Amino acid sequence: MSATITSIAHYLPPDVYPNSYIEEYLDTNHEWIMTRSGIAERRFAKDGATSDLIVPAAKEAMEKAGYGPEDIDCVIVATVTPDHAFPSTACVVQNKLGLKNAWGYDISAACSGFIFAFVTAAKLVESGAAKRVLLCGADKMTSVMNMQDRAQAVLFGDGAGVCIVEKSDDPELGFKDFITHIDGDGGQYLHKIAGGSFKPSSEETVANKEHYIFQDGQPVFKAAVKGMADVSVEIMERNGLNNETIDWLVPHQANLRIITATAKRMGLDPEKVMINIEKYGNTTAGTIPICLSEWSQKGDLKHGQNVILSSFGAGFTWGSIYMRWNTNKK
Ligand code: UT7
Repeated sequence: MSATITSIAHYLPPDVYPNSYIEEYLDTNHEWIMTRSGIAERRFAKDGATSDLIVPAAKEAMEKAGYGPEDIDCVIVATVTPDHAFPSTACVVQNKLGLKNAWGYDISAACSGFIFAFVTAAKLVESGAAKRVLLCGADKMTSVMNMQDRAQAVLFGDGAGVCIVEKSDDPELGFKDFITHIDGDGGQYLHKIAGGSFKPSSEETVANKEHYIFQDGQPVFKAAVKGMADVSVEIMERNGLNNETIDWLVPHQANLRIITATAKRMGLDPEKVMINIEKYGNTTAGTIPICLSEWSQKGDLKHGQNVILSSFGAGFTWGSIYMRWNTNKK
């Protein structure tokens, strides 16, 4: 038995912030941002929490599949910007959507959140422990961004992608294989240090700006180029895939240079790579499901196509999934 995505949707806040907006108050420029990251604009949510990004996408995904709130029996939220430390954002979403038959939880794996959560959802479905999982990848990065720091204010954005994972009608389609890794030694290069049990919030942590993202970009960049390419090539080779047989690479959207390097190591034609970083920046757990949803909406993600998902993020966390896209509705 295999698990598959049967419906997908995404939500992005409507307010668009181009590079020219950030140029007005920070010492940066469009040229630097584009050449270093490939980002031209991003979406910032004016208000609300991560669950408010998830709910509209979840409603759309459920409606497209013809499911009501009672049909979902599990909700998994991948995020590093949960509404609260507790209760989980899964509980908040469950309540807001009235998913009265669902249990669920959050998964914290930063930019690899969607991949790690998709592995979990697929295995729950394959084992019979869950029938229909509402799988959400979402982050409100503006809640942890220091807008006065040009090294991060230009990189991130807010957004959510939500899909339904359930049993595939065709065992040849859907989730096929995965590779996942963590390396805690990488935590020193990318983190939000305060606000947890290690450093509870205090006047001092606020004054020291320790509730914002800290990123030492270069070591993360180097590890990301290697880590994302390694897992992508490994999953490709062990499934007997190549440039001819892979239809899409769906990479995490942190930096266009990381994406390009990964595609090059795989020997993939650039037109087989989903890229929307220019429009949305890095929405952390949101990037991969937002890509899948956009390409599926455009009709470019077709039944039976071979798709590789790949990510690298804080932790460090990284991984890859091989799946065959299934457009059949239940
Ligand atoms: O998604 C989770 C995983 N995260 C990633 O994958 C991100 C990985 N890292 C990166 O993508 C890149 O390292 C960045 C995009 C974050 C930075 O690019 P970089 O080419 O590594 O630049 P850098 O950090 O080495 O900075 C180069 C220069 C510095 O100035 P000096 O020291 O050379 O004078 C920075 O101060 O660029 C400066 N700089 C900026 N200049 C204009 C940093 N941010 C900006 C900015 N505008 N926004």
